[in-house]
Amino acid sequence: MKAILLRKSGGPGVLAAEEVPDPIPGRGEVLVRLHFTGINYAEILSRKGLYGWAVKRPYILGMEGSGIIEAVGEGVDAARIGQKVMVGSQNGAYAEKIALPQVRAVSAFEHFSMAENAAFLVNFMTAWVSLFSLARLEAGEKVLVTAAAGGVGTAAVQLAAKAGGVVYALAGSQEKIEFLKELGAAGAFNYREENCFERLKEVSGGVDVVLEMVGGAVYRESMRLLNPFGRMAVAGFASLDLQKWNPFSWWKTWRDIPRVSLMSLAHKTAAVMATHLGYLLANPERTLEIFRELRQFVIEKDIRPAVGRIFPFEQAAQAHAFIESRRSIGKVLLEHRGGGQEAVAGAAAGGSKQ
Ligand SMILES: NC(=O)c1ccc[n+]([C@@H]2O[C@H](COP(=O)([O-])OP(=O)(O)OC[C@H]3O[C@@H](n4cnc5c(N)ncnc54)[C@H](OP(=O)(O)O)[C@@H]3O)[C@@H](O)[C@H]2O)c1
Repeated sequence: MKAILLRKSGGPGVLAAEEVPDPIPGRGEVLVRLHFTGINYAEILSRKGLYGWAVKRPYILGMEGSGIIEAVGEGVDAARIGQKVMVGSQNGAYAEKIALPQVRAVSAFEHFSMAENAAFLVNFMTAWVSLFSLARLEAGEKVLVTAAAGGVGTAAVQLAAKAGGVVYALAGSQEKIEFLKELGAAGAFNYREENCFERLKEVSGGVDVVLEMVGGAVYRESMRLLNPFGRMAVAGFASLDLQKWNPFSWWKTWRDIPRVSLMSLAHKTAAVMATHLGYLLANPERTLEIFRELRQFVIEKDIRPAVGRIFPFEQAAQAHAFIESRRSIGKVLLEHRGGGQEAVAGAAAGGSKQ
């Protein structure tokens, strides 16, 4: 099969497809032929050699996708062959096929396209855990989502709005701002414009919950917006750009990593929390329990992932470069069959037509 093995760290150009042996499902595993692979920001960091949760190189990148179970290992019900699934994994999804424990291949949403299914697991689980398992968002509360037009952000905006939250969204372009309003944000602001946070403060009067994924000044300003009894869930640090040979970047990274002063939290009576899905994966029972709650909510509220641009599998390098350009809206995917960019709608979510 074709796969993208990360052999060395570097720019998008290190991502080249090569021929590797097909994986064989072991005991308790299923073999899935992937239709789409979802790209996550963590894989950009992995490619740069900066992701703490990555395994030792060389390895096949990729944490999620959608496809069909093609074979099963010992101990797995053969009736699963042919099932449409979404898969979640630490790595292995930048490939035509993936073998993984059967518990990590969950049945796909029947009413989603295969592209939408590939855009679901990591983004929606991260948004759900942050907003509900950690920050305990309640109807009527004001929520701020940063990097809101990205994969996790578009999931969070929809989930929070459908849970009755009043959602404020931050993103880096006018096009993203328009998109976020269509998606359900009560207010959306461009944090590349001056006085963005002052305007946000004026309009919102402060927020009860923040889902923060940028770090640096965005984290610090968001902390200032937190109301008494507020909860901040930190799920990422997209602005950090550590470069091995650049001491200035070490200093900037040190400066911009979110920090918490218990004294200032005490002054306002607030909480800061953080999450990483990787650690949740190690607890399959808890993961499945959360997934079931999320699944039911998404079906009841008729929510769909916002699928952005789809690249042919062979163009993983271009897909990474596109994400790094900060122009992407919603989830960026790789397609395994055929090629060409499918303008998938994510229609209910106002899917981007980039
Ligand atoms: N905790 C977890 O388990 C978990 C799981 C998934 C993702 N994450 C994290 O959540 C964040 C978002 O992930 P995602 O998959 O939604 O990513 P994404 O779709 O690629 O969105 C990332 C967005 O981050 C924003 N950003 C802000 N500052 C940036 C900078 N200096 N360089 C590049 N982008 C910057 C950009 O939007 P604007 O230009 O609009 O700001 C960019 O489009 C990432 O930090 C990721 O590592 C964490």
